[in-house]
Amino acid sequence: MLTLSMKDILLLVRNYYDILLASILVISITLYLSKVSGKPKDAKSCIPGSLGIPFVGETFALLSATNSVKGCYDFVRLRREWHGKWFKTRIFGKIHVFVPSVEGAKTIFTNDFTLFNKGYVKSMADAVGKKSLLCVPQESHKRIRRLLSDPFSMHSLSKFVQRFDNMLCERLKKVQKEGKSFTVLDFNMKITFDAMCDMLMSIKDASLLEQIERDCTAVSDAMLSFPVMIPTTRYYKGIKARTRLMETFNAMITNRRNGKEYHEDFLQSMLEKDSCPANQKLDDEEIMDNLLTLIIAGQTTTAAAMMWSVKFLHEHGEVQDRLREEQISILRSKPNGALLTLDDLNSMSYASKVVKETLRMSNVLLWFPRVALDDCNIEGFEIKKGWHANIDATCIHYDPALYKDPMQFNPSRFDEMQKPYSYIPFGSGLRTCLGINMAKVTMLVFLHRLTSGYEWTVDDPDPSLEKKAHIPRLRSGCPITLTVLQDE
Ligand code: HEM
Repeated sequence: MLTLSMKDILLLVRNYYDILLASILVISITLYLSKVSGKPKDAKSCIPGSLGIPFVGETFALLSATNSVKGCYDFVRLRREWHGKWFKTRIFGKIHVFVPSVEGAKTIFTNDFTLFNKGYVKSMADAVGKKSLLCVPQESHKRIRRLLSDPFSMHSLSKFVQRFDNMLCERLKKVQKEGKSFTVLDFNMKITFDAMCDMLMSIKDASLLEQIERDCTAVSDAMLSFPVMIPTTRYYKGIKARTRLMETFNAMITNRRNGKEYHEDFLQSMLEKDSCPANQKLDDEEIMDNLLTLIIAGQTTTAAAMMWSVKFLHEHGEVQDRLREEQISILRSKPNGALLTLDDLNSMSYASKVVKETLRMSNVLLWFPRVALDDCNIEGFEIKKGWHANIDATCIHYDPALYKDPMQFNPSRFDEMQKPYSYIPFGSGLRTCLGINMAKVTMLVFLHRLTSGYEWTVDDPDPSLEKKAHIPRLRSGCPITLTVLQDE
């Protein structure tokens, strides 16, 4: 073994004095820089990012992105450019990590409720209700979800398909006859709302529908607002709207129980379980909170996705031509004026890929928020208990390693199987979207009637996004003018 005497050491220091000094300087600078950037040199486990000053963090930057025509995802995009794929930030006093990978999505989805959970947001629970699927703890979630699921199975949706198809045919005919430009987003918002209220509660009265829609919008706006009961605030208006909605739903339930009304719909199927043991039925509060939840979760998402399909098809004539060819051949195989069936929808193989590609590109829900219930480690990155871990579906859907030319609208990419957790527009695991089938059939019926019956021009090509929206939607709402397709 090499042993050095004091004399040897002094000799070394004298001879290599400059090298030693340079080394000390380099080490000091590196330590200082890593401290300043919050990124210790030896810790891959430390997620890069800027937490800013306590509590405020980067809240204003997120609010400013949300308030711009680039949309709130621009906040995420910029930070990913600055810090890399994994980054953390601080918003409203909470540390958020944006989880950008298939591996990360898998870890969180498969540990939902055990290692991760949805964060408790007071305004959300107050607005949509404590018994909503979005707010209840795991045990109730399992039971409520099981009891709500049946009317949303593919089999149960066959009646919905025909009712929606009928409604859509009439409304498209009407707007085409008027010959004027109309906003696809508004058209979609109204028809998805009306169709859902019909399926859930058989409501057809136009003024009641308008009142319920206004109140549902107020509740939805209150879900992420600051919870203070001061008149004129979004929270106040949302809570008042919720009270009116609960009164309406309650009156409907009473009328059904008294036998004054009977309809074959979702509400009736829930009330038919009245004589079942408690764990095999929903109580009235659970029914009403979840009626509201279903409307809010289903309307804006489906309407936005349908709007994006119109824009993408307009920009990709070759996709539109191929889709139209498939849809016309289905139309011609049926008796004149017949409504679509589930079998017809199952035969729409290209349209299904158009739906998938639309959802991949549009990322109606940009990321899915969770809170870590304990310290954990994903792909070597440490996430601390209490941090928010957002599954960044947009980043996964735009990852060039998973999707070649990810910004290209190309439905045929779905000819090939997707890697697990690389395609997650409806989430995955215990909290997978309950309305996944309903959303898919609605979009297929819409694409069928639009392309087999009409051509359209987009009357405002502005790509700007709506401000202050959490769901990406065109600011213009995508105005179009329809013309009837001429028989060749
Ligand atoms: C294109 C349309 C839609 C998209 C992209 C979509 C997307 C999603 C996603 C990603 C989740 C899971 C979020 C998470 O894990 O945090 C979810 C949950 C949910 N969705 Fe949808 N959704 C759509 C339409 C619908 C419709 C039509 C309904 C009902 C009528 C609906 C009802 C729900 C409900 C109740 C949940 C909560 C499920 C739970 O927590 O167990 N969604 N949706």
